[in-house]
Amino acid sequence: MLIRHPPDIPPSDITPPEVYRERRRFIQGLGAAVAVTALGTAGHVSAGSRLPAVRRGSHVLDDAKTPYRDVTTYNNFYEFGTGKDDPAAHAGTLRTRPWTVVVEGAVKRPRLWDIEALLRLAPLEERVYRMRCVEGWSMVISWVGFPLRELIRRTEPTGRAKYVEFVTLHDPAQMPGQRRRVLDWPYVEGLRMDEAMHPLTLLAMGLYGEMLPNQNGAPIRLVVPWKYGFKSAKSLVAIRFVEKQPRTAWMAAAPNEYGFYSNVNPQVDHPRWSQAKERRIGEFFKRDTLLFNGYAEQVADLYRGMDLKRHF
Ligand code: MTE
Repeated sequence: MLIRHPPDIPPSDITPPEVYRERRRFIQGLGAAVAVTALGTAGHVSAGSRLPAVRRGSHVLDDAKTPYRDVTTYNNFYEFGTGKDDPAAHAGTLRTRPWTVVVEGAVKRPRLWDIEALLRLAPLEERVYRMRCVEGWSMVISWVGFPLRELIRRTEPTGRAKYVEFVTLHDPAQMPGQRRRVLDWPYVEGLRMDEAMHPLTLLAMGLYGEMLPNQNGAPIRLVVPWKYGFKSAKSLVAIRFVEKQPRTAWMAAAPNEYGFYSNVNPQVDHPRWSQAKERRIGEFFKRDTLLFNGYAEQVADLYRGMDLKRHF
């Protein structure tokens, strides 16, 4: 089955009328004050929608959460520039409605999902995860989303699906950083099928109980807490089930520095710096980095028998 991709055709062509009407009803149902607040404040919080009810999830870390302000003003999103404050400063040009995500490849049920339908695909949970950037800083972030496997189950991958590829929007008009060839756009990431099915792997639509701000990957992104932050691709437009290991944007840019697995590992240094310690944003002293970012108990089995220095 052939599915045309969102950038090729205007959104009006790809949104079925019933989805469109549902979305209109949903937006009209919001209080005017809420809509205005969402549009006007909090640094590019996605406009026009509020999250459905969020329940407290099963993986809520006890560590103090990194303040919302730091989470939303200090991060990487190269589509808006390479500086840590560029995403917050420039991501206002990203339009997150209408938005669709194509889910396709080696699956029985390919589908072009409207974001409003994705928001209602499974109950939304709060998950508080430790996040570790490959550059040496870390945060504790309260995400809102549901396990990716909820979507995978509804998509019914075939036996040929060995990996999952995640693709970020490619539109230099909205993402000015894409006018420079810092990376081979679009941003692509990948997981092995068992990693994608792991209950910790999240599709996130919100943080701290609110819609995702643009700079954090609105309207929908991946969150994989035991891997370096760059695996958690933002602003997704495609999720593809494939037979071969995807060529990720970072592997294409610097294959000696960024491997496919990218599991947080204090014993495997980046070629240009040590990964043994990290700076938790807001703290003065460095902390020891934990194997699999502290999630070894849950994920170590996925890599049993593998040489983690070779498969970095
Ligand atoms: N996704 C896209 N599309 N583009 C990016 O540049 N940067 C990654 C990841 N996802 C990035 C991306 C990196 S290096 C990190 S550390 C996290 O996003 C940081 O953002 P966060 O704090 O919102 O998770």
